[in-house]
Amino acid sequence: MTFHVIPYSFYESGTTYFWVHFGLVILGFVVALATCIGQWVKPAPYGKHEREDPNWGPKIPQRLSHIISDALTGIIMFSLVFFLYSREVADKGVLNYVFYGLFLIHTLHRGLLHPLTMRYRSATVPIGITIGGLLPNVLYQWLIANHIGVAGYDSSYPYDPRFLLGILLYVIGFVINRWADWKLRSLREIKGQENHSSMIDGGGGGGGDGCNGYYIPYGGLFDLIACPNYFGELVQWIGWTLATWSLSGVVWTLFCAATFFARSRHNLQWYRDQFQHYPPNRKALIPFIF
Ligand SMILES: NC(=O)c1ccc[n+]([C@@H]2O[C@H](COP(=O)([O-])OP(=O)(O)OC[C@H]3O[C@@H](n4cnc5c(N)ncnc54)[C@H](OP(=O)(O)O)[C@@H]3O)[C@@H](O)[C@H]2O)c1
Repeated sequence: MTFHVIPYSFYESGTTYFWVHFGLVILGFVVALATCIGQWVKPAPYGKHEREDPNWGPKIPQRLSHIISDALTGIIMFSLVFFLYSREVADKGVLNYVFYGLFLIHTLHRGLLHPLTMRYRSATVPIGITIGGLLPNVLYQWLIANHIGVAGYDSSYPYDPRFLLGILLYVIGFVINRWADWKLRSLREIKGQENHSSMIDGGGGGGGDGCNGYYIPYGGLFDLIACPNYFGELVQWIGWTLATWSLSGVVWTLFCAATFFARSRHNLQWYRDQFQHYPPNRKALIPFIF
């Protein structure tokens, strides 16, 4: 098998398509950096960090907000760009469709299933949260769809270690993310049927009534870190970047990491402030490290 540093053909350098793509990649780096700084200073006001802040605008239903910011971009715009934009540049091969399917599984989940099934404490979020999710998603998911819609991968690439390891990490990360979000969801049982299993350490922090309070999660990765859902998604995007071997993957992973590192740090501090008996050795995002 021949090893190519860039295992696919892409836009010819110097063309307008080339500059649009890589100009937006540079913008992606800048947005990721700005996100890192902004989120590190103050977490976005939803979930545990909800607060009254008129700068974030009027409130809209939380489920609708997540559908607008994630399904509109990650399902509809993503598919339109993949199938229609610059389609004459390359004939799509099986790998293009594999990448399309993998990303779509994520966005179908994140944009529809997740907002329709999770048990949020608050029914609404400020519209700034919707816009703050929507605009970066337009940028990064456009780039990702553009890359996987156009790149013509080598015929030997399905056997390339980058592809194989990347796909493995993507699947492992996806499973961890889903498992962790589902475990969090299960902390809030229907009122009157609370499940006091070993996972639950009593309601606290947030004034719940047994079905919408906050609890200390236990079990699996929750024994090591505060945010296994973020950790799983981070692993997922590292795998994606490796498998697609793309700069669009790099900037998307950096953007997500900017949120995950900053918000998990705030979440860990929040747990420590709210629960006296919060396990002291738990890290925020990366077991034993961060
Ligand atoms: N790609 C990205 O840039 C990005 C950015 C952010 C999030 N995400 C993904 O989106 C998903 C949700 O993110 P998130 O920030 O909303 O995660 P989160 O703060 O962990 O909340 C997830 C869900 O669990 C509930 N929950 C959290 N901690 C709880 C506790 N101790 N006790 C009871 N319920 C608890 C939350 O309720 P409340 O809403 O009432 O707090 C919410 O319904 C995750 O899969 C994450 O990876 C991706």
